[in-house]
Amino acid sequence: MNLTNRHLLLGVTGGIAAYKAAELARLLVKAGAEVQVVMTQAATRFVAPLTFEALTGNSVCTDLFDSAHEAAMGHIELARWADLVVVAPATADFMARLAAGRADDLLTTLCVATKAPVAVAPAMNQQMWANAATQESIKTLEGFHMLIWGPAAGEQACGDVGPGRLFEAAQLFQLVCEHFATGLFAGVRALITAGPTHEALDPVRFIGNRSSGRMGFAMAQALVEEGAEVTLVAGPVSMKTPRGVTRIDIESAMQMHSEVMQRVTTCDLFVATAAVADYRPQQSAAEKIKKSGEKLTIELIRNPDILANVASLENSPYTVGFAAETERLEEYAQRKRIDKRIDIIAANLVGAAEGGFESTQNALTVFWEGGQQQLPLTDKLRLARQFITLMSEHFYARTGT
Ligand code: C5P
Repeated sequence: MNLTNRHLLLGVTGGIAAYKAAELARLLVKAGAEVQVVMTQAATRFVAPLTFEALTGNSVCTDLFDSAHEAAMGHIELARWADLVVVAPATADFMARLAAGRADDLLTTLCVATKAPVAVAPAMNQQMWANAATQESIKTLEGFHMLIWGPAAGEQACGDVGPGRLFEAAQLFQLVCEHFATGLFAGVRALITAGPTHEALDPVRFIGNRSSGRMGFAMAQALVEEGAEVTLVAGPVSMKTPRGVTRIDIESAMQMHSEVMQRVTTCDLFVATAAVADYRPQQSAAEKIKKSGEKLTIELIRNPDILANVASLENSPYTVGFAAETERLEEYAQRKRIDKRIDIIAANLVGAAEGGFESTQNALTVFWEGGQQQLPLTDKLRLARQFITLMSEHFYARTGT
C-alpha cells in the first residue's frame, strides 16, 4: 500500500505499549506517509520524543502552550493538516477525557478540533478495560463515530491475561491502509499524463501548446478521491499537485515517453490527458539561435505516440484517451480510439465558443466499443468525477475484478 502524501497524526499516550507506536510510525513513513507525532506528557516517560523524531523526521509536539511549535504549525493548523488521527496506545484516562469532550492537553485538543476521522487503539490492564467507566467511554466514542481499533487479548505486561493488549504495529498499519483503501478505484494503480510538452528549439525557446493541465490534474484528483494510487507525469504547468498524488515533472514528449514507459508495466490504468507535441525539432541548438536571413526553416520529426505505445503493449493497462477536436468530433474520436487501440476515449470540441484547453470548464462525449455518452459542460473536477464513474464500469468489465 502506498500512503504517499497522506497526513497521519499519530497520538501516543502514556502506556507501556507506547514502544509499539514507534514501529507503527516506521511502517507509516516507509509507506510514504507524512507522520506527525503528538505525545502526552505521560507518554514521554515511556518513550523519548527523540525516537519518534528520528523515525518521522518531524519534531514531536507535546505541549499545547509550546510557543515554538505553535509558531511553526499551530494546533488548529495541525488539526486541519491531518487526514487521519490514530491514537496508539490510548489509555483509559485518555479515552475518558476524549469521551467527556475535554481539551485539556494538546492531543485531546487536536482530537476535538479536527474534522479528520479519529481512530483509537486502546491498551490497558484487562481489569481497567473491563471497568464500567472505560466501557462507557468506548460506547461514547463509538457514538461520536470514532474508530476503535482493538484491543487484542492475551498476556499483558503486568502478568495478567485478558483483553487490553494494544494491537501489533503491523495490524494497526493494515487498518490505516484499509481506511484509505476505499472508493471506486481502491487499490488501482493509475498513471496519468497531463499538460503540454515543450519541445526545445534552443536553450531559451520551445514549441508548446495552450494546454493548462487542468483536465489531467482533475482526473488525478478524482481518481485519488476514489482510492486509486495515482502517479501524474506532468508537463510544464502551474498547477498545484492534488493531495495524495505522486507527481513527476517533465518538459518534452521524449521525457514524458520515457517516464511513462518506466512505470506503465506496474499500473492498471493509463489515462492520457496530455497534449503531447506531435513533432519536435530534429535538433535543439546548443546556443541561442541568432536572427540572420528573412526566413528560418526548422526541421521537425515525429514524437512517439505515448498512448498508442502503451495500448500496444502485451499486457497493457486499461487505456483512456482524450481527443480535442475543432470539428467532426465523433468521427475523429472514434477513429483515434480504433487506430490507437484504446479502451475508451473522451472527446471535446476546442475553439473559441467551447470550453476546453485554457478553460476551467469542459464538456465531454465519451466513446467506447459499442457505446457513447455525453457529459455536459461543467467544471473540470466535477466532469472528471462523472467521467471516472462512467469509466469504472468499463474498467471493471475489462479487468474482470
Ligand atoms: O492523436 P491525438 O494527439 O489527437 O490523440 C490524443 C490522445 O493521444 C490523447 O489522449 C493524448 O494524451 C495522446 N497522445 C499521446 N502521445 C502523443 C500524442 C497524443 O499519448 N504523442
